[in-house]
Amino acid sequence: MKQVCLVIFFFSLTTAAVFSQNKVFIPGKEWLDTDGIHINAHGGGILFKKGVYYWYGEHKTSGSQGNTALMGVRCYSSTDLYHWRNEGIVLKVETDLNSEITKGCVIERPKVVFNEKTGKYIMWFHLELKGKGYEAAKAAVAVSDTPKGPFKFLKSYRPNKGVWPLNFEDQYKTANVDESQLKWWTPEWMSQIKNGMFVRKDYVNGQMSRDMTVYVDDDQKAYLIYSSEENLTLHIAELTNDYLGFTGKWVRLEPGGHNEAPTIFKTGGVYYMITSGCTGWDPNAARSFRSKSIWGPWEAMGNPCVGEGALLTFKSQGTYILPIQGKNEQFIFMADRWNPKKPIDGTYVWLPIEFEDKRPVLKWMDKWNL
Ligand code: DGJ
Repeated sequence: MKQVCLVIFFFSLTTAAVFSQNKVFIPGKEWLDTDGIHINAHGGGILFKKGVYYWYGEHKTSGSQGNTALMGVRCYSSTDLYHWRNEGIVLKVETDLNSEITKGCVIERPKVVFNEKTGKYIMWFHLELKGKGYEAAKAAVAVSDTPKGPFKFLKSYRPNKGVWPLNFEDQYKTANVDESQLKWWTPEWMSQIKNGMFVRKDYVNGQMSRDMTVYVDDDQKAYLIYSSEENLTLHIAELTNDYLGFTGKWVRLEPGGHNEAPTIFKTGGVYYMITSGCTGWDPNAARSFRSKSIWGPWEAMGNPCVGEGALLTFKSQGTYILPIQGKNEQFIFMADRWNPKKPIDGTYVWLPIEFEDKRPVLKWMDKWNL
């Protein structure tokens, strides 16, 4: 009996030592959950609720179908941001072949927010239909009574059907040239894109929505921010009070600027956005913007990354900006180092956001902690 107690005592000591050594972020390396398995929550986002962080992300697999949704959205929980417990698949793909979220569809960049008015947990994600590549370009919403799910898929949208953006001049509401004659990527075509050619094209059926995030402001109003117009222009669209639909109030940001991977935070009354360029799964240079109002005007501030690796965002692409609880106005830039050949092995690059000359700055760190 004495021996058994000793073994248990030493086992607890060793376990405690392993976990206490682990209070460090090591960007780009394998990150193990509390079962010792590499975390599988790509393109993710984090919700903080009642002392617990919930990390939601794409469950990826290995192999050629590894970037499609074969399981759904996985969730992990943590109280310290270092130790993550697997909470399982909280939004499951469906077996019904007629379901929009049937196994083999594409579910990317899930973000969960809590709605104070309804008491519901709301998940938004980028949805592509099975076998249709990236052509559907939809934003989809699911709901749950608890942060650990199960989330129930409600519906998908092409946002803002039949509504013009707030920052759209009347003269752009009709085409002034024969757009069908324009060759893609010519200066004339790009000028028409900036003037809203794709907004006009999708006015009736709703705007395209691919890479996205959701932001809940201090007044509890929520916004979907997404890459639209064939990834050429970002849109910011206000959500209804229940966060399940759109109010029709929306703006375009950086027309023709080719931004993906929108992430946002607010500090000192100013909104900051960090995005990426568009190069598929390959990394590129990040961009940053700021504005005093969510509706803009947004001022471009260039690449927030500095030092070696800055031109490729340290081989990663942003997914979310996390305000650290209890650390007054400190933020973590969360990014993915994609691994398209073996998607399940993709790693996570988390870096603290610093400020220099009132600009957000990201610097590579081999290891860091809070
Ligand atoms: C880059 C996006 O940011 C990812 O979420 C994913 O959609 C890939 N493109 C697909 O190529």
